[in-house]
Amino acid sequence: MYLSLSIRPMQITLTEKQTKAFDYLEDKTTKEILFGGSAGSAKSFTGCLWQLLRRLAHPNTRGLIGRAKLTDLKNTTLMTFFEVANMLGVNHKFKYNAQNNRILFNNGSIIFLKDLFLYPSDPEFVSLGSMEITDCFIDEAGDVCEKAYTILRTRIRYNLINGVPKMALGANPAQNWLYREFYKPFKDGTLPNDRKFVPSTARENKYIPHEYLISLDKLKGIDRERLRNGNWDYEDDNTVMIPYDAILGMFGFEYAERGQKYISADIALGGADLFVVGVWDGLQLLDVIVLPKCEADEVLTVLKDCADKHQVPYRNIVFDGDGVGGYLRGFLRRSYKFNNGSSPIIAKKKQSAGYLMKKSFITPDHANLKTQCAYRLADLASNGEIGITLTNTIRKYQDRIQSELQQLKRDKVDNDSKLYIISKEQMKENLAHSPDFLDMMIMRMVFELEY
Ligand SMILES: Nc1ncnc2c1ncn2[C@@H]1O[C@H](COP(=O)(O)OP(=O)(O)OP(=O)(O)O)[C@@H](O)[C@H]1O
Ligand SMILES: [Mg+2]
Repeated sequence: MYLSLSIRPMQITLTEKQTKAFDYLEDKTTKEILFGGSAGSAKSFTGCLWQLLRRLAHPNTRGLIGRAKLTDLKNTTLMTFFEVANMLGVNHKFKYNAQNNRILFNNGSIIFLKDLFLYPSDPEFVSLGSMEITDCFIDEAGDVCEKAYTILRTRIRYNLINGVPKMALGANPAQNWLYREFYKPFKDGTLPNDRKFVPSTARENKYIPHEYLISLDKLKGIDRERLRNGNWDYEDDNTVMIPYDAILGMFGFEYAERGQKYISADIALGGADLFVVGVWDGLQLLDVIVLPKCEADEVLTVLKDCADKHQVPYRNIVFDGDGVGGYLRGFLRRSYKFNNGSSPIIAKKKQSAGYLMKKSFITPDHANLKTQCAYRLADLASNGEIGITLTNTIRKYQDRIQSELQQLKRDKVDNDSKLYIISKEQMKENLAHSPDFLDMMIMRMVFELEY
């Protein structure tokens, strides 16, 4: 189809991997395609070329090129776009409007350049809600949250080419929704027909300068795995406490040991944090209730209703005692008031016969109670002993819960006398939000410390 374009012939020859990607990008079954792996594997080039050719060949269609940050999009992806246009000799066929971030084509087509970062001011991506597009390309999709992707998907319905909504994603290996939705099913052979993954590395891009490959050869550790080898199963740093596979395995797993019901609640009365309540049957997380910050009496109502509904005895409720007023503490006086910084719990040691040894205590070597519970969570989760039921709310927050669990990392590993985890501030910085779900899950472990 593109051969009919009045562009200079033979200016661009696709690599084998690009050809494969283009086959999927133009067929009638594929709706989403992930292209990528290592750095320099021609992700941006492929996406830009595709967008450009589509707009030129199909008048009055609307594309979108998105990236987490618009400044990065303009500084890098857009440069590749102009490079491609230059190679094709089609610069005169469009105008770039830097003010409203659009590329307007003479034939009435348009490409929107869009910032896909999850800003606290627009958590639901209302800014995307009003758009109608023909297709889109997300560059460095690993930096974009799942929500942007799912919302964008629903916006692809304008003047569709061959009636198929198409989305192209370019990314380096990332252990987030891309891994879950594309890489893992690809590896397991369970990718649905309308989704494709084309792995590629810089070595398969014959246009990459030799010096660039040498610079990739010099990388070490995770960077080498991800950026040189395009390895999606890279071991995140060795401080990670729950392997990524085990994190994924918890979701939808229904066979955790059940028993007593519990509630663990991370209470947020102010600030930007979420109020997160987890309802548990043994080690099965049955559901979560999530509220943006709320008033004390609202917290009370939610916890009461939840305890009644699931018949949870008040002594099996644990809540974050640090930020909670006396009013709430009164109601929850029989519940466990969790203080992060308090001393670890001295666990009673059981003899093998099952009898409690008289006054035989073991002293845990965790920095504090929260650390002790975090280690317990990591142990149980890594062993596949925790299940998370996929309710609607959990589905909604699944990506966020996963990334919070990935933040459970050891700290001060050289310290031989005590065990640490990285600080909440550090987690917040890595996540760009507070680890509210993780805190809720950590607190639940206070009932699992006796052994
Ligand atoms: N078919 C092609 N013809 C000519 N040059 C190409 C072709 N495909 C890719 N290239 C060149 O290969 C180089 C790397 O491509 P690109 O920037 O798209 O890679 P990338 O995977 O996006 O890299 P990064 O990881 O840095 O984002 C660029 O200089 C690009 O111009
Ligand atoms: Mg790129």
